[in-house]
Amino acid sequence: MTADPRGLGAWLVDAALDRSVVGGYSKFGYAMRRRLSNWPDDPPAGALVGREALVTGASSGLGKQSCADLAGLGARVHLVVRNLQKGEVVRRELLEQLPDSEFVLWRCDVSDLRDVERFCQEYAAESGRLDVLVHNAGVMPAQRTESAQGHELAMATHVLGPLRLTESLRPQLAVSGSSRVVLVTSGGMYAQQLPVTDPEYRRGGYHGATAYARSKRVQVALLPVLTRRWSADGISVHAMHPGWANTPGVADSLPLFHRVTRPILRDNSEGADTTAWLAAAEPPPPSGMLWQDRRPRPEHVVPWTKETESAQQSMWQWCALTVGIESAN
Ligand SMILES: NC(=O)c1ccc[n+]([C@@H]2O[C@H](COP(=O)([O-])OP(=O)(O)OC[C@H]3O[C@@H](n4cnc5c(N)ncnc54)[C@H](OP(=O)(O)O)[C@@H]3O)[C@@H](O)[C@H]2O)c1
Repeated sequence: MTADPRGLGAWLVDAALDRSVVGGYSKFGYAMRRRLSNWPDDPPAGALVGREALVTGASSGLGKQSCADLAGLGARVHLVVRNLQKGEVVRRELLEQLPDSEFVLWRCDVSDLRDVERFCQEYAAESGRLDVLVHNAGVMPAQRTESAQGHELAMATHVLGPLRLTESLRPQLAVSGSSRVVLVTSGGMYAQQLPVTDPEYRRGGYHGATAYARSKRVQVALLPVLTRRWSADGISVHAMHPGWANTPGVADSLPLFHRVTRPILRDNSEGADTTAWLAAAEPPPPSGMLWQDRRPRPEHVVPWTKETESAQQSMWQWCALTVGIESAN
């Protein structure tokens, strides 16, 4: 907070938008915040020149936009997609938009731990470093689906795969001593507790939106653990939620929501704005926080979603064991 009355007013407007949900998540919330006196500066021009950035789920929506944003700041951008044909179309579109940038296409199903391992080995052989890693790939399964290793698909895509991928590329992330990992999470997690006792969603009727939001809650709940774990290598970790953006993913997975809210949905650049900002802002944003529209946001809005320290530790132990890494920091 600030003693400056204009700054205080801006802070109050921003906080009110956040608490109103519809106001803060819509394109109007983004437009209003951008005009506030406390809107943080853009990253410096060319902030990512000479840096390597990797975006998962680069073949659509917010991931494609993040590729453009990071390349616009000077990064060489690695597009990680599960469908190479679709990815190649996107890579060409990005090149048309940014002809001086370099985009490298990779195939990887991030829900498949073996495929993640294979990809990381290939990446490590090709590129010695990684400076920005955006875990953007996302899915809202219509029915309970299992990954190649038999894990519930939303958890595998949003938590297990990203954890394995980051751990496997840790030597590359450690090279600069100041790399940044961004987890694209969702405001949907505000309605969910940490699924400590049923991480694979085996109990009760399966709802894709619930599975999705639970896995996004795990992303946020593990931030303190991951911050401690990776800070020794100079790797910071951030979660951001985009608000509501008009992407193919929203149109396909939530058709009714999409129809009703379409006039107020953000465009891709508004939804993805905070991702590139977290990747390149100076001074570097502090590690281990949840962000939206370039500001830290609370991790809980209702008391019943708050996890205990021991629940957080149990969740972490399960994740570490499942992806095959040492859980000790
Ligand atoms: N749009 C919003 O309002 C909103 C709100 C909150 C959070 N988010 C989050 O933002 C992120 C991007 O979502 P979006 O709205 O841009 O959705 P989208 O258009 O459906 O894009 C999702 C991307 O993830 C990829 N993907 C899914 N599963 C994958 C896997 N196993 N391996 C590799 N790639 C995979 C998809 O690949 P294909 O192209 O092959 O399908 C696609 O490129 C997601 O994490 C989502 O949860 C979005």
